[in-house]
Amino acid sequence: MTETAQQREATPYELLGGDEGVRKLSKAFYAAMDRLPEARTIRDMHKDNLDEIEEKLYEFLSGWLGGPHHYFNKYGTICLSKPHRPYAIGEAERDQWLMCMDVALDDIGAPGTVKAMLKKPFFMIANMMRTR
Ligand code: HEM
Repeated sequence: MTETAQQREATPYELLGGDEGVRKLSKAFYAAMDRLPEARTIRDMHKDNLDEIEEKLYEFLSGWLGGPHHYFNKYGTICLSKPHRPYAIGEAERDQWLMCMDVALDDIGAPGTVKAMLKKPFFMIANMMRTR
């Protein structure tokens, strides 16, 4: 018998609304980074045009949240340490990133259950990106 969403716990990917939801989240994330003065330090690390990075975050998050592994299929890895190595990322920068993600989740109207589910994993992955 094939597995259905009724027989197991839904993945965050499903709870966020699948492909469309993850696209919205990535878009809302960089829109928040772009507009929030509190995220200025990390915004300044990025290129003026955020289209490419928005696509990459969408590809990565899709797999990380339990959906199709677009980033792995395209780049052959899910290790993000190397692309972050050139940047000075400490606690303050990590917290700016997490704040943008919190705002993005609110902006797309993510359910409280999925926000609670993702709180710790997002902290852990963002903390892993620290370079200092
Ligand atoms: C902790 C704070 C973080 C900061 C300050 C940060 C900043 C950056 C910067 C400056 C880039 C390069 C942008 C460019 O090439 O235009 C980048 C790339 C990227 N970041 Fe982050 N990032 C952080 C955490 C994260 C986290 C937690 C994730 C995933 C959940 C993530 C996902 C990505 C992806 C997918 C890329 C593209 C990598 C590639 O070039 O293939 N970042 N990040």
